[in-house]
Amino acid sequence: MQEERILKSENDTIEFAKQFAPKLKKGDVVALYGELGTGKTFFTQQLCKFLGVRENVSSPSYVLMNEYMGTCVIRHLDLYRIDTAEEVLELGLYDLYEDAITIIEWPEIAEGMMPENTIHIYFEFINSDRRVKIRK
Ligand SMILES: Nc1ncnc2c1ncn2[C@@H]1O[C@H](COP(=O)(O)OP(=O)(O)OP(=O)(O)O)[C@@H](O)[C@H]1O
Ligand SMILES: [Mg+2]
Repeated sequence: MQEERILKSENDTIEFAKQFAPKLKKGDVVALYGELGTGKTFFTQQLCKFLGVRENVSSPSYVLMNEYMGTCVIRHLDLYRIDTAEEVLELGLYDLYEDAITIIEWPEIAEGMMPENTIHIYFEFINSDRRVKIRK
């Protein structure tokens, strides 16, 4: 199943996150693809807010993984700085999925390590807008 949306502003992204959040449950994995600055972290921040996280959600590009408590545990990863699949394994991703909602930016390096039912979201610049494609 594939769905497409045009996000003309941050408000559109906020609305998208608001509609998407209630569809998520513990154990779900969301993979966010797209060039630098396409809005993966911004979307995650909004998503976390609608999932009940009250603290500030920051980009995990340097720390690799942040953990929050909302309606359940939410883990936010950014694999941009990871070069090998072995390093992904060292994060222990497999053991982490079950008890949380896992959101992964730059997930390409972990392609074979995400569950079958992962929700893939592709962010793209289209002129001055963003487009997202959602694939389940
Ligand atoms: N739909 C939108 N319209 C306009 N600006 C947006 C939209 N979505 C996000 N932004 C803005 O784009 C900027 C960059 O977004 P963000 O940091 O989320 O990108 P990213 O995809 O996480 O990049 P990186 O790959 O570096 O982690 C932010 O300042 C954010 O506010
Ligand atoms: Mg980011």
